[in-house]
Formats: sequence, C-alpha cells, structure tokens
Amino acid sequence: MPLARAAPDGAELFSQKCAMCHDLSKKKMGPAVKNMTVDTKTLRAIISNGRKMMPPYASMLDAEQIDALVAYIKAQQ
Ligand code: HEC
Repeated sequence: MPLARAAPDGAELFSQKCAMCHDLSKKKMGPAVKNMTVDTKTLRAIISNGRKMMPPYASMLDAEQIDALVAYIKAQQ
C-alpha cells in the first residue's frame, strides 16, 4: 500500500511559488489574485504554460499541486 501523502496546500504553494509576483489584492509584477478573471480551465493552463513574463510551472508542479493552487485562487476571489 502506498504511503499516505498529505494533500498539497494551495496557500503554502502560493506563498512559495507565486507571491513574489502576485499579491492577493494589489498589483505587483503580475495582477492581483482578486483581479484574475479567467475561468478554472484557463487558470490551470496559465499556471502550466506561463504567459509572457510569467514562467511555466508544468515541470515544477504536479496536477494535484496545480489543482490546489487553482482552488486557493478561486477561494480568494
Ligand atoms: C516572475 C513573476 C511571476 C511569478 C513567479 C508568477 N506569475 Fe503569474 N503572472 C505574472 C505576470 C507578469 C502575469 C501577466 C501576464 C500577461 O501579461 O499576460 C501573470 C499572470 C498570471 C495569471 C493570469 C491572470 C489573468 O487574469 O489574466 C494567473 C492566473 C497567474 N499569473 C497565476 C500565477 C500562479 C498561480 C503562480 C504561482 C504558481 C504565478 N502566477 C507565478 C508573473 C508571475
């Protein structure tokens, strides 16, 4: 039986990987989380593939971690 693994924590991932460019409520290098208007599918795509100045995370985060980030972002809006 595989060892139980804790579900990834979206808030923790956000503060480690995203907060240097994204504040929850103010514009930094990237837009504020509360001003992100894209739908869930687009969120996943932007996190995976990046956009313009934003780096892609597909090789650094697994699907569960990306889902946790998407859920965290949606919960802040
Ligand atoms: C190096 C800085 C940087 C980092 C790190 C970064 N981003 Fe971004 N992000 C940006 C920039 C700049 C844009 C605007 C891109 C554009 O002009 O289209 C952006 C755009 C976005 C958008 C699109 C918002 C919209 O409404 O159009 C989302 C969603 C997003 N980032 C999520 C994240 C998440 C989640 C992380 C962490 C995994 C992250 N970003 C890490 C710089 C960054």
